[in-house]
Amino acid sequence: MSSLAVIGAQFGDEGKGKIVDFLAQKADVIVRFNGGSNAGHTVMVGEKTYKFHLIPSGSLYPEKTLLIGNGCVVDPEVAWEEILMVEREKGKINLTISERAHVVFSYHKVLDELQEKLKGKLKAGTTKRGIGPAYSDKSARFGLRMVDLINEDSFRRKCKKLFLMYDRLMQTFYNHKWEKHASIDEEVEKYVQLGRKLKPYVGDVSGKILNSIEKGENVLFEGAQGTLLDIDFGVYPFGTSSNTTVGGICVGAGVPPRAIDKVMGVTKAYLTRVGAGPVPTEIKGELARYIREKGAEYGATTGRPRRCGWLDAVALKYACRINGFDYLAVTKIDVLGGIEKVKICVAYEVNGSETKFFPADTEKLSDCKPVYEELDGWRNLSLGKWRKIIKEGYGSLPAEVKKFLERIEELCGVPVALVSVGPRRDETLVLEGTL
Ligand code: GDP
Ligand code: IMO
Ligand code: MG
Repeated sequence: MSSLAVIGAQFGDEGKGKIVDFLAQKADVIVRFNGGSNAGHTVMVGEKTYKFHLIPSGSLYPEKTLLIGNGCVVDPEVAWEEILMVEREKGKINLTISERAHVVFSYHKVLDELQEKLKGKLKAGTTKRGIGPAYSDKSARFGLRMVDLINEDSFRRKCKKLFLMYDRLMQTFYNHKWEKHASIDEEVEKYVQLGRKLKPYVGDVSGKILNSIEKGENVLFEGAQGTLLDIDFGVYPFGTSSNTTVGGICVGAGVPPRAIDKVMGVTKAYLTRVGAGPVPTEIKGELARYIREKGAEYGATTGRPRRCGWLDAVALKYACRINGFDYLAVTKIDVLGGIEKVKICVAYEVNGSETKFFPADTEKLSDCKPVYEELDGWRNLSLGKWRKIIKEGYGSLPAEVKKFLERIEELCGVPVALVSVGPRRDETLVLEGTL
């Protein structure tokens, strides 16, 4: 067997969906282990675009085992919609959602909005998918899990009690009557119905992964969000509420560390961020607009315009350290085509001195000014030209692209294994001697 983890090396949206879909050709099992429907992973097959929020991105191939681990928080409405979407596209889905995964209810989404308002300047600009409140409930030990959702009789009782408690909480702390969104009894019934529909898809995910490994099957772990959004290692408090880094796999899928053979970090050739918080290499004005439009940099979950910036090698090196990447996948090389000079941030200047250290102090990060290295840019190539390059191999990439990739390898000490020059599966170059 072999297993590979695909992890976002930046602020999310690095192109993990595309890379996972590409790598899934050789995988038997694809596993989500963190986050929920805050994720938006885009997969383009031919001219059709699919956006996955919960179900693993490799689900468009026939006969893959698809798993959603206990580390995810599952919005049953989204899960059901995506099951229907995949079944419309390719027939019966082989999906198991961990019985231990926590459920995201509509009150988590209402609470997400209320908390953001309350936080003012400290708001992260969440996706409003109820992620923070659902993980908070999990840690505070009054959440409900998929195993509860599918046990109809006890669920009705537990759920009603919880919903009434939440209604009281919201009124007391937020002066907000949750019941005005829907009657509590109707809400309970809605989730009972969803539980009935999802019951056949709920099971022991950890056990399934270990069985597959024993059978010698190939397992792909699909990270959601990115290292800089990790609850522990990200830009706190502007990140998400789960462990998006490699450590999240053991606790979020229920596997021992030796079940992870290799780890691949995915980074864009530049950087984007959706939501609030400091981004040292953010660029504004015409160039940012050029990259945003050319790269279609609008959130896959919320449609918000993404903030764009130059590649930040200080942050990328930090992501390499936390995740121990064996390889990097560099996406969106095509998007930078046509820019005369491209920049990589190689250090930060803060309070008059230079550092290559990614700070834990978010206020300090706000004060960090990027120190750039400038490289020659490459020509804007048509899709046809990029496709020809893919067929011919690494040697036929424009010399400036090769220099750019080699510089990333030098700065990070990690080899580049995949280069992506377009959103489709076949717009991907595998570097010889890597995968
Ligand atoms: P994820 O959350 O990491 O899966 O990334 P998203 O799907 O949110 O955002 C990545 C966007 O870039 C999607 O629209 C992809 O279709 C697109 N994409 C991925 N790789 C490439 C690439 O190499 N070139 C171009 N032009 N688009 C890409
Ligand atoms: P994928 O998997 C980019 C950001 C939000 C916000 C912060 C917290 O597609 O890469 P949350 O809703 O999780 O409480 O929001 O994290 N965020 C993402 N940004 N890609 C994502 O997922 C994200 N998931 C959350 O914008 O700043
Ligand atoms: Mg995304």
